[in-house]
Amino acid sequence: MRFTVAIDGPAAAGKGTISRAVAARFGFAHLDTGALYRAVGVKGGDPVVAAQTLGPQDLAREDLRTGAAGQAASKVAAIPEVRAALVQFQREFARREGGAVLDGRDIGTVICPDAEVKLFVTASPEVRAHRRWLELGGDEREVLADVRERDARDMNRADAPLRPAEDALVLDTSEMGVDAAVQAACDLIAARRR
Ligand code: CDP
Repeated sequence: MRFTVAIDGPAAAGKGTISRAVAARFGFAHLDTGALYRAVGVKGGDPVVAAQTLGPQDLAREDLRTGAAGQAASKVAAIPEVRAALVQFQREFARREGGAVLDGRDIGTVICPDAEVKLFVTASPEVRAHRRWLELGGDEREVLADVRERDARDMNRADAPLRPAEDALVLDTSEMGVDAAVQAACDLIAARRR
């Protein structure tokens, strides 16, 4: 059985939490594609070479979730050759036997336009910054500035900009709790699998 769930959205919208819950519920494999760009961003050297030679040890680094890694990721993610180097791995993961959930920015639009289920998870910048601040700490105003800067870069780049696929279900988690968002995602997947 091949079944792909594409979950896209801006920074700290809840994609990771929803993806992990969905993967556990349906027994699908999960790929956090942001980790690929974070790993390229922190690797140093030529980002295109870093993307072409990315290995398991790069993805096992402990500093991938830091704010600096997020900023570095969104810079290298605007380079078309970096994105191109990561496409095949993501597409193979998406079509693996047993089902897959991929979360990122361009899964429903570029990587898996034929995904069986597409979700676009979003929330206001303030809500997202608050969540990221709870996760990472620091100065909440700086976290908000960081979120806005990264959103602008991700939405305005020429190659694979962040936007919902036309056939994506949009979940705004500003008001909706994450449990309700997980439930909505699970209901949609269950309906499509029949
Ligand atoms: O966890 P968070 O939502 O803050 O970010 P992430 O999903 O780990 O992604 C980090 C950065 O990688 C994003 O700001 C994007 O610039 C880039 N990215 C991308 O361009 N395409 C993807 N499929 C995933 C991430």
